[in-house]
Amino acid sequence: MTDVLGDWKRSHACGELAAGHAGQTVTLMGWAHRRRDHGGLIFVDLRDRTGLAQCVFDPATGGGAHIRVQDVRNEFVLAVVGEVARRPAGTENPKLPTGQIEVHVRELRVLNESRPLPFQIDDEREVDELLRLQYRYLDLRRPSLYRNFAMRDQVCRAVRDYLHGHGFLEVETPILTRSTPEGARDFLVPSRLNPGAFYALPQSPQLFKQLLMVAGFERYYQIVRCFRDEDQRKDRQLEFTQIDIETSFLDRDDFLPVIEGMVAEVFRRVKGVEVARPFPRISYTEAMDRYGSDKPDLRFGLPLVDVSDLFRGGDFQAFAQVVAGGGVVKALRIPGAGGLSRKDADDLVTTAKSFGAKGLVWIKVAADGIQSPVAKFLEGIRQALLTRVDAGAGDLLLLVGDAPQAAATVLGRFRVDLAQKHGHVPSDGLSLAWVVDFPLVEWDDEAHRWNSMHHPFTAPRDEDVGLLATDPGRAQAKAYDLVLNGQEIGGGSIRIHRQDLQQRVFEMLGIAKDEARAKFGFLLDALEFGAPPMGGIAFGLDRLVAILAGEDSIREVIAFPKTQKGTDPMTEAPAPVTAVQLRELHIHVVDSTR
Ligand code: AMO
Repeated sequence: MTDVLGDWKRSHACGELAAGHAGQTVTLMGWAHRRRDHGGLIFVDLRDRTGLAQCVFDPATGGGAHIRVQDVRNEFVLAVVGEVARRPAGTENPKLPTGQIEVHVRELRVLNESRPLPFQIDDEREVDELLRLQYRYLDLRRPSLYRNFAMRDQVCRAVRDYLHGHGFLEVETPILTRSTPEGARDFLVPSRLNPGAFYALPQSPQLFKQLLMVAGFERYYQIVRCFRDEDQRKDRQLEFTQIDIETSFLDRDDFLPVIEGMVAEVFRRVKGVEVARPFPRISYTEAMDRYGSDKPDLRFGLPLVDVSDLFRGGDFQAFAQVVAGGGVVKALRIPGAGGLSRKDADDLVTTAKSFGAKGLVWIKVAADGIQSPVAKFLEGIRQALLTRVDAGAGDLLLLVGDAPQAAATVLGRFRVDLAQKHGHVPSDGLSLAWVVDFPLVEWDDEAHRWNSMHHPFTAPRDEDVGLLATDPGRAQAKAYDLVLNGQEIGGGSIRIHRQDLQQRVFEMLGIAKDEARAKFGFLLDALEFGAPPMGGIAFGLDRLVAILAGEDSIREVIAFPKTQKGTDPMTEAPAPVTAVQLRELHIHVVDSTR
């Protein structure tokens, strides 16, 4: 039996009540978080989005509330009128912000009932993620999740305030559009009005923001949903949100400080932290070389060290051959990790192979020497090796010999995993850095052609334009990524704004003239109508918020995320549609798996 709200007005939020309210009559509304029956007295922790208030139902108070509350169960929606009182001495709860007070309820209205829950609304308990997503509206009642969304809102407001303060205009761009090449597969939407034709959902608003620059808007931004049909990970969703930005007439070194100002504003408002500016910059080459990653986690050191010269022509044939063949031997030292068992060490070799390495050499450093499956080949260089990597007793060394990039990438992954495992990552550290000077393109061995490292609209350095025809692999891009604690939170570039150069880049990427016309004719046209120099960036909002909130997965900061398989257990999307719908869309479904 439920009551109507009637003329009751909420006077206070549960979480705001404090000792100063003692003696006041308040009207609270919220959910019965927990109910405890102490024989005579019944306690209900009433929860709203601000916190909990302990409500006391005492038979002595009269008014019937004590009778009605007998039927109340967890997550019933209640309205109460009562008097705030200090809790009796000794019964205060220092863990609860409202732990000094309680509300002596005079009147109760039950606004709605609740079925028994599939899981309790409790931050402490681990609940299966599928179940959480199936009942996401219950999951979102958990205070920790609510805090994530409050933080997400704060980030967006800081971004909007900053960008408006700097002359940026918020402009929306189409969701039903043509394919934008950001390197993932497109989501397609069939057109009912145009049989056989499809819209693509934007992987990003890249081309539209460039066109807004051609339009003369000069400073654009948008907090915008993007869609990419790619494999899901904890930092990737099929639909995610970008803070998308574009400007005219700024070169890289004018533009990056504007963005640093925005990031600093976010940290100031959301974390109360003043970040040092300018942010450090590290070249792509150095990042790969020293950290084996184009998004190095710089909260800790542990750089990779080139030890190729020690193995050149030496006793250890496997590495000597790699070096003779133009490869490198790289070493990673993990302080304090040398105590691992033989089995754990062998597991590292298996892991290295799963990372794509041909092999891995491990060396445990002890006070009285080293232990390694290849120790006898290392005798002659042992001391030089230990000195080079600055190793001491208790350390673990990992060595990989391979092509430079391959060796660095494998050790780069161990660097992150093992630093985490052995406590070398400061838990409250925040490390921001720009990665700059990316190569313009990388060679795709399978497709036998060059691919853009960022996207095909990224400008090469002015002095490298000549390399497009002769040696594209050596051309550098005017591109930059912003890395926070080892995650890429943003990426962008200065764009090509001249039609002839854009055409040449398309050709270099193996996009023939007529194909370029067919796909990007509108862009090529626009570039012929006085396109200004332009550049921009896009941030992964979900990633940024997840890091700020200390969450491991972006699913914790997205209200209704998808599972690893791209499904929504709550709505059960994606789902079949009716034959009538398909016919209207001119679609005939065939089972290509058979
Ligand atoms: P990029 O493809 O680097 O650049 O994307 C920008 C940022 O978006 C985030 N991101 C994702 N977040 C969650 N799930 C995903 N599937 C996902 N994919 C990317 C990352 C990334 O740094 N148009 C260009 C930007 C530009 O050049 O201005 C672009 O989209 O944090």
